[in-house]
Amino acid sequence: MQNNMSHFSLKSLFGAVFLFFAFSFGLKAQDAAKIFKQNCAVCHALTDQKLTGPGLAGVFDRVQPGSMTKDAWLHSWIKNNEKLIKSGDAYANKIYNENGKAAMTVFESLSDKEIDDVIAYIKAPPVPTTTGPVTTTGGDVVAAEEVKGGIDPLYLLLGSIVILAIVLGALRSVRHSLQNSYNRREGKAEKPEITFGEEIKEWIGSHRRLVGVFVIIIAFGGMKSCWDACYDLGVYYDWETQKGYHPEQPIKFSHKLHAGDNEIACQYCHNSVEKSRHAGIPTVNVCMNCHKGIQTGPQYGEKEIAKIYAASGFNPKTGVYDAPENPIKWIKVHTLPDHVYFNHSQHVVVGKQECATCHGDVKKMTTVEQKTPLTMKWCIECHRKTEVAMEGNAYYDRMHKALKEKYKGQYDVKFTVDKIGGLECAKCHY
Ligand code: HEC
Ligand code: HEC
Ligand code: HEC
Ligand code: HEC
Ligand code: HEC
Ligand code: HEC
Repeated sequence: MQNNMSHFSLKSLFGAVFLFFAFSFGLKAQDAAKIFKQNCAVCHALTDQKLTGPGLAGVFDRVQPGSMTKDAWLHSWIKNNEKLIKSGDAYANKIYNENGKAAMTVFESLSDKEIDDVIAYIKAPPVPTTTGPVTTTGGDVVAAEEVKGGIDPLYLLLGSIVILAIVLGALRSVRHSLQNSYNRREGKAEKPEITFGEEIKEWIGSHRRLVGVFVIIIAFGGMKSCWDACYDLGVYYDWETQKGYHPEQPIKFSHKLHAGDNEIACQYCHNSVEKSRHAGIPTVNVCMNCHKGIQTGPQYGEKEIAKIYAASGFNPKTGVYDAPENPIKWIKVHTLPDHVYFNHSQHVVVGKQECATCHGDVKKMTTVEQKTPLTMKWCIECHRKTEVAMEGNAYYDRMHKALKEKYKGQYDVKFTVDKIGGLECAKCHY
């Protein structure tokens, strides 16, 4: 038993030491990645690709350091390449000339340790992960995982807890054996060893109130973070990659030219926006109302307008529709998930909201891009602060009277959308 226990403490000690090194190595790798990003990445890729400087893949194999070690050569090159070139070092002069005498920055500002860390980093760079938006079959853009150097603070926390538990375990065995040797000396009976679990149970039994408080705090914390997560719904990260999403469309249709310069009303083309939940994308027949006549454009000549004819089966030479139709496949820019209900006419007609509030200044866009996050948080924040346009709105006349009655005596009450139920889950979710 005794043997077993000291074995256990030794093992946990090794474990703790190992974890400590693993973590400090993780941190070091992160630092080096940062140094590289801040100082070197403008001129060097970690692959074969040449930027201003050569790609650094395999650099450790190709340097010919003369009498120095490769590490020492790299160190003095990075620290002060000018000095090394002036000293007449053969390899330094060779790469200097091969790169058209492009100057690399001098890094006297970096400490020796930082330079060594960067060299270690160049030798074994992390496996690259793909970034950038990924298009799913639904056509909406999902956030790709950011490439992050270093470790997540969560792992750090978990690591600390593991280490703490191990240290506690070790201390516990030490205490137990001390207690027993004390008992032996005093001639008392040795206390039988109880398991960790039993000990915890015993402890909880004698500290009920404290444990109760802890459980409540943790439960509340859990609920709060669930709520926050619900409210945000990864909004921030999604939005960062989705911001300004503007796919190339099959025809170079410009809102700037049509809705801006030629002042065609939005509703001319998005003619269901005031009548239904969908704004709608115009069919090719709507385009043909004008383009039967307008056969050339200011920027692309006949080329782009010809695509309208191909789609509608129109022959501009003869002026008859004699070819098969072939609908234009516009790519959707704004998308909400299927479980969300959003209604244009309610917002545009009843709510009196401008297109530009949610879509930005479309009149100035050559290709439409997403200007707002379209997340739940975004919807809710507007509902919290936007007042319902009630005055002179028949639909609300009765409700307005009722609300006035309800809040009588309380001046300065704003009838924002949340007060008419704009935060109820079922209003927006099927
Ligand atoms: C302003 C651009 C620039 C920056 C910044 C820069 N380098 Fe360079 N580096 C070069 C050029 C150019 C060369 C090729 C030699 C020459 O022309 O001086 C080079 C060469 C090298 C070489 C030798 C490559 C080989 O093929 O043998 C290494 C290693 C190197 N740089 C590491 C670094 C590191 C590490 C940093 C950041 C601490 C860094 N460089 C920052 C431009 C740069
Ligand atoms: C001449 C017809 C026409 C007019 C006028 C017009 N649009 Fe469009 N709109 C289109 C077409 C075609 C598309 C689909 C191609 C695209 O996204 O560019 C579109 C797409 C859009 C989209 C993106 C839809 C999506 O995929 O999410 C928005 C938002 C939009 N229009 C808003 C407006 C606003 C606001 C106005 C008025 C300022 C306006 N449009 C005027 C034809 C028109
Ligand atoms: C109300 C009339 C009207 C409608 C409807 C209309 N356009 Fe146009 N379109 C114009 C005008 C005006 C021009 C500019 C002609 C000029 O300046 O020479 C134009 C130009 C164009 C050009 C040429 C761009 C360039 O720079 O070469 C394209 C492409 C085009 N429209 C596509 C469409 C598409 C697609 C639709 C249907 C979704 C559509 N238009 C609907 C009036 C219209
Ligand atoms: C309160 C915010 C809001 C306002 C105001 C608004 N839109 Fe939208 N619009 C959206 C959202 C959200 C979507 C995405 C809808 C979906 O995916 O179901 C969208 C989608 C669209 C689309 C793509 C086709 C469709 O029906 O889904 C068009 C076109 C469009 N809007 C045009 C307009 C025009 C034109 C106006 C002004 C007359 C306007 N919108 C006003 C929020 C708004
Ligand atoms: C620019 C501000 C704004 C944004 C953004 C907005 N709304 Fe609204 N919303 C309103 C206004 C104003 C009304 C009140 C319309 C009315 O009077 O019925 C409203 C009403 C509603 C209602 C009806 C509520 C009720 O109690 O009748 C629903 C459902 C709704 N919005 C869904 C959404 C969804 C889903 C989104 C996000 C995709 C969204 N809204 C984004 C301003 C906004
Ligand atoms: C004003 C409109 C609105 C209200 C009210 C609303 N939601 Fe949402 N909700 C949305 C929108 C829009 C999305 C889509 C967000 C996105 O795509 O990022 C969403 C997404 C969600 C999702 C995520 C589903 C997914 O695909 O990731 C959950 C869960 C959710 N809502 C729950 C709720 C609950 C619970 C309530 C009531 C407390 C609520 N919502 C009230 C608009 C609303």
